[in-house]
Amino acid sequence: MKTAKMIIDPISKISKVDERIYGSFIEHLGRAIYDGIYQPGNPLSDEDGFRKDVVELVRELGVPIVRYPGGNFVSNYFWEDGVGPVSERPKRLELAWRSLETNEVGLDEFAKWAKKAGTDVMMAVNLGTRGIADALNLLEYCNHPGGSKYSDMRIKNGHPEPHKIKVWCLGNEMDGPWQIGHKTMEEYGRLAEETAKAMKQIDPEIELVSCGSSSLTMPTFPKWEAVTLEHTYDYVDYVSMHQYYGNAENDTADFLAKSDDCDQFIRTVITACDYVRAVKRGKKDLNISFDEWNVWFHSQQEDDETMKQRPWQKAPQLLEDIYTFEDALLVGLILITILKHADRVKMACLAQLVNVIAPIMTEPGGGAAWRQTIYYPFLYTSRYGRGTAIQPILQTPAHETSNHGQVSDIESIAVFNEEKSEVVLFAVNRNLDEDVLLQTDLRAFEGYRILEHVVLENEDLKATNGPLAEKVSPFQTDRSKLDGGQMESLLKKATWNMVRLGK
Ligand code: AHR
Repeated sequence: MKTAKMIIDPISKISKVDERIYGSFIEHLGRAIYDGIYQPGNPLSDEDGFRKDVVELVRELGVPIVRYPGGNFVSNYFWEDGVGPVSERPKRLELAWRSLETNEVGLDEFAKWAKKAGTDVMMAVNLGTRGIADALNLLEYCNHPGGSKYSDMRIKNGHPEPHKIKVWCLGNEMDGPWQIGHKTMEEYGRLAEETAKAMKQIDPEIELVSCGSSSLTMPTFPKWEAVTLEHTYDYVDYVSMHQYYGNAENDTADFLAKSDDCDQFIRTVITACDYVRAVKRGKKDLNISFDEWNVWFHSQQEDDETMKQRPWQKAPQLLEDIYTFEDALLVGLILITILKHADRVKMACLAQLVNVIAPIMTEPGGGAAWRQTIYYPFLYTSRYGRGTAIQPILQTPAHETSNHGQVSDIESIAVFNEEKSEVVLFAVNRNLDEDVLLQTDLRAFEGYRILEHVVLENEDLKATNGPLAEKVSPFQTDRSKLDGGQMESLLKKATWNMVRLGK
């Protein structure tokens, strides 16, 4: 059998993990809001119309921050349409997804939902069709205590306490030609700089995210980061990264190698941030908000058809990817990659959370909520991947892939939770044909014992979950043995693994 060797020692600390890397995203898109988190009249919903079962699942996932309200949606969103008496709210043509937005849910309702779900809101402003003034009015509405036009409007609308939203995104994917109000890097840099400067005048405590690239393959990447951040450096704290992965070619070995692209993307964005810091003779590091990432490709053809042939529906079924077991492996791999960069990736949002490229689904027509395959690696990493990320010294065998050449069989990261005296190892064997015996030197953790070795495994790479049957869910194994500080773990081919050790 192939073997891999690893040393885990808290000396090789990467950084404390910012729990906001386990964030997610809810856009006014498809059935994410309507039929997803909000469904008045359903016995599964509470007095405010929010689905209680969905709130429970979000709580189970442990999502500390949720980006809202878009996405492409935000670039022509008029936030004022979604506040005040619901009966007076206008219906609008929603251009990004060619749907009908009824505005029954707006930011006040979403803030209320977020409290119930135990999460914070990350708010995005419209820098597509709107600009500085509207961003300022929105911030005043949300965060100013009272005694001014927009804060008093919020109070009049029944929300005496400010929402105190801490993190704000300066637009969405402004580098993308598909974006309504798409901008060149110079145009965006200047607009974002002036918007950021003025927003910090209202509330200096907020944290701002400058729009980065919509994918590693954008022709403007990474010049976009270099140019726009030179404008925004003084006022912003993060630059965003977005990336979706697909396996339309049905080449799974190559698909699972795409976490290496993610690593490359993060490294290049860090380089751009550090370049700008040097140019500005700056004192602060700009960090990364990887605020859209996931697998997204299953539904694309159907979505194009819906938007073209049946536009302007309320809450159409859009982006309802049903995830396979192999998608869950990639999600596990991306989480490992994010943790490897815990020193610079401070926020990340699995896009999205409910019904739209989501770990949580609800049945159309008001049926039960259920967990997709990707739910599980996210759940375990979010629950146990808190503490200090530790860089393992890893020697792993490799295998050949069609587009990525030779790639490592094993991808792994460790997280040390000093408070709980736990060290947790996340590892994926992305070799589809061969098991690997992982030998881990854990002598630095004297007195620790194995608490559990959890595995996500399935003979069928294309296995999916559904409302009636859950074919892909984790289980505990006895595939790890610890003896005198040396642990041997059997990592079967194509598996996601978590080994948790404690005292
Ligand atoms: O998450 C779906 C879409 O993907 C978002 O609206 C957009 O920002 C990205 O292109």
